[in-house]
Amino acid sequence: MIAEEVRKELIECIHFGLNNKNRSISLSMPHRLYATDEQSQLFEEATSKNTEYKTMIDDPIVSLLSNNIDSIIQGVKTRVNFIDLGPGYPVKSFIIIDELLKRSVNVKYYAVDVSPYFLDRAIFIAQQKDVNATKLERRFETLAPILNKDLTPKEIPRLIFLGLTFNNFPLEYIVSILAEITRSNDICLVCHQPSDGLSKHDLLEPYTGNKIKAFAFEPLRIAGISQDDVTYSPKLNKQVIETCFTTIHDVAWEGETIPKGTELVTAQSYRFPSNKVRDALKKEMVIKNEYIDEKTKITLIKLSGQRD
Ligand SMILES: C[S@@+](CC[C@H](N)C(=O)[O-])C[C@H]1O[C@@H](n2cnc3c(N)ncnc32)[C@H](O)[C@@H]1O
Repeated sequence: MIAEEVRKELIECIHFGLNNKNRSISLSMPHRLYATDEQSQLFEEATSKNTEYKTMIDDPIVSLLSNNIDSIIQGVKTRVNFIDLGPGYPVKSFIIIDELLKRSVNVKYYAVDVSPYFLDRAIFIAQQKDVNATKLERRFETLAPILNKDLTPKEIPRLIFLGLTFNNFPLEYIVSILAEITRSNDICLVCHQPSDGLSKHDLLEPYTGNKIKAFAFEPLRIAGISQDDVTYSPKLNKQVIETCFTTIHDVAWEGETIPKGTELVTAQSYRFPSNKVRDALKKEMVIKNEYIDEKTKITLIKLSGQRD
């Protein structure tokens, strides 16, 4: 079970950090944020029901997709396998799929996620639209062998959608996962928000407030730490937004003491300069198009792979 594995990973990370006398302990890997139903529900509260997050992040992506849909799906003919990498609440994915269906494209839908909650919901929505849907409860990191070998034949092009989850991984790490999956006749769509052209306030604002705090706290709750022992403040650490909890006193935990002032970082969202993102992508993939929201700098990139 992914949830139990995640609990063990979190506890190991804290022990490791304490043994190395780290004042800042990173627990951040995206799959650790969505393993339980509670985490998935809190993510939804923290994003779609959080005005700052919605206006700065979610709404611009929806607009970029809707306003550029012709260009985005250009190249898709009669059939496509839609690979949804982390559908979450799949509003954005279905902007694209609805348009494909309107144009009578035969769509097969594959939802890939660590969250059983999000998977069930994505599959339910696809089935309501009479779309043939398959769920893959696994990490993106383990996807390439099964996807490339057994599931999706070469003759049928794929539309691989990751969206802004791209920003939750180190750049080279996520680019190599995508490059391994994406073939030359596929379309791959990623979003990112760059560091250039935005103030620190603009970057941090979506990560403030009680809803995002509740979501970001969940990994600590799962690891057995109490809300009363920590304070929350999001930080911009070099090019990374961190959801950071600091212990307000020595905390007795799992037979050890977490010293007062220890930082526990539960999530990281990277903000790289646009040219760095382009360069990393160009090394392993082909950039077909870029669509930018001028106010928030949210950027949607259409890619294809370099191999068949
Ligand atoms: C930030 S949400 C994005 C949801 C949606 N695509 C959107 O743009 O609103 C991230 C999604 O990816 C999933 N996820 C994160 N890391 C993952 C990983 N390593 N493997 C599989 N799923 C992952 C989460 O469970 C969640 O559904």
